[in-house]
Amino acid sequence: MIHRLSRLVAVAVGLAVVTTACRPGDGEEAAETEAATAATVSAPDTTGAAIWAHLQESDYEANWQMWPDKGSFYTGNQPHGMLLTTYLNDVAYQALTGGATEMPAGAIIVKQNYMPDSTLAAVTTMFKVAGYNADHNDWFFTKHLASGELDKAPNGMELEGRLPGCQNCHVGVQANDYLYTGQLGAGN
Ligand code: HEC
Repeated sequence: MIHRLSRLVAVAVGLAVVTTACRPGDGEEAAETEAATAATVSAPDTTGAAIWAHLQESDYEANWQMWPDKGSFYTGNQPHGMLLTTYLNDVAYQALTGGATEMPAGAIIVKQNYMPDSTLAAVTTMFKVAGYNADHNDWFFTKHLASGELDKAPNGMELEGRLPGCQNCHVGVQANDYLYTGQLGAGN
């Protein structure tokens, strides 16, 4: 009996070793990355770099919902480009489809701007952060190039933060929490 037990333990240990060996990098490093992912998933900082890292770690194109009824490559307007695909994180998606009248803190909306030939030109995000931007419904804005670099205004300012260019146009739909696409409160 003791014999069989120690064989079982040996098998279990062997399995553990195999499982560990299958992980990319050493086990500890992977665990640290997972912990970091969990932390950023709950609250990326209000910097363009943190948002971009958060999008990559979330693998948003695979894991987030597209804007309901829009799908991929729908037709956009100036200044955003000809073809758009817009993703919502879980917080934003639940709010939109649940009939919320404004986006809660933690909501992230990512819009990809494509050229007419379907090359990705830019990625714009709106991230709702409690207390961040009292004059503009607490939205944090970014615009990245397809490479992941922040885009710049003509004066060299990196496009992250309380961006006048973005919010002065989006304020036109203030009653819809600055969102042009879809109708909040309708449970789309
Ligand atoms: C001149 C007006 C205008 C400016 C400036 C503008 N947007 Fe938009 N934005 C729109 C419109 C209109 C839409 C709806 C999609 C479309 O028709 O192109 C939109 C859509 C979006 C969306 C999808 C959610 C929504 O509101 O529908 C995001 C995210 C977004 N814009 C981010 C930004 C960011 C970031 C900037 C600044 C870098 C910016 N926008 C500048 C007009 C503007």
